[in-house]
Amino acid sequence: MSTVVAEPGLEAQFEATIARKDRIEPRDWMPEAYRKTLIRQVAQHAHSEIIGMQPEGNWIGRAPSLRRKAILLAKVQDEAGHGLYLYSAAETLGASRDDLTEMLIAGRQKYSSIFNYPTLSYADVGTVGWLVDGAAICNQVPLCRTSFGPYGRAMIRICKEESFHQRQGYELLMTMMRGTEAQRRMVQESVDRLWWPSLMMFGPPDDASPNTAQSMAWGVKTHTNDELRQKFVDMSVPQAEALGVTLPDPELRWNEDRGHYDFGQPDWDEFWAVVGGNGPCNAQRVAHRAAAWEDGAWVREAALAFAASEESAKEAAA
Ligand SMILES: [Fe+2]
Ligand SMILES: [Fe+2]
Repeated sequence: MSTVVAEPGLEAQFEATIARKDRIEPRDWMPEAYRKTLIRQVAQHAHSEIIGMQPEGNWIGRAPSLRRKAILLAKVQDEAGHGLYLYSAAETLGASRDDLTEMLIAGRQKYSSIFNYPTLSYADVGTVGWLVDGAAICNQVPLCRTSFGPYGRAMIRICKEESFHQRQGYELLMTMMRGTEAQRRMVQESVDRLWWPSLMMFGPPDDASPNTAQSMAWGVKTHTNDELRQKFVDMSVPQAEALGVTLPDPELRWNEDRGHYDFGQPDWDEFWAVVGGNGPCNAQRVAHRAAAWEDGAWVREAALAFAASEESAKEAAA
């Protein structure tokens, strides 16, 4: 990565592009802090897609029918694709995929806290689709208009696939809710366990989120964590009612004056412990990723060797 010295004209151009709500492209001059913020955010997002394959991948071999297995396989594959678009977007900022992966494995870059929770029952496949992909949609739809071009364009495709993910989860839960008493209990238990970690996906409360103001000024973020959390709660309550499940929050009630649901706060100490590496599955998730990265080394080497031999064959022919 080269250090670009700001020329007054370039900085003004950057500011004007942001003010017009236009896109910043990789070839454009950008402040180093903007580049760093984006690399951090896009990498964290890419890592979440790839690590997020693990909790659901856990159920592929145990899906109860061929149809359910095909749906789950397609969904987990989509997440791999999301990771790849996002690593590519990070590469346009001058980051290398190898470096980003090594930082993830070394614990120097994060991924979404939700993926450090285990998927303990098959109903979790449905709940993850409904709530986790649902929270991801709330977070990501505004990112389609983020100021950095490659990130925003990747998000447009990703959001279309996320909405399929959410529907498949909801449909699975609906099917279970129409099933036996044991299936309904399994769904309720899953929702009880994953509701609060889903609320944590929006990040800490606004007053504990020091980067939000700068990210909003740069058009990287367009809504605060608390705004998005509220949106998610408002969206989920009627869906829970239609499903016939209870959300495990005694403070949850409609507030006529605000035109929104009031709701309780997640356990933020638990959130910080998980983010700090001490969630139920942090060590397992990272160890699995590290092993997959090592096991795949020969594929990366072979692909590079093949590309190099094609290149020299082309040169020889010329
Ligand atoms: Fe995804
Ligand atoms: Fe998804």
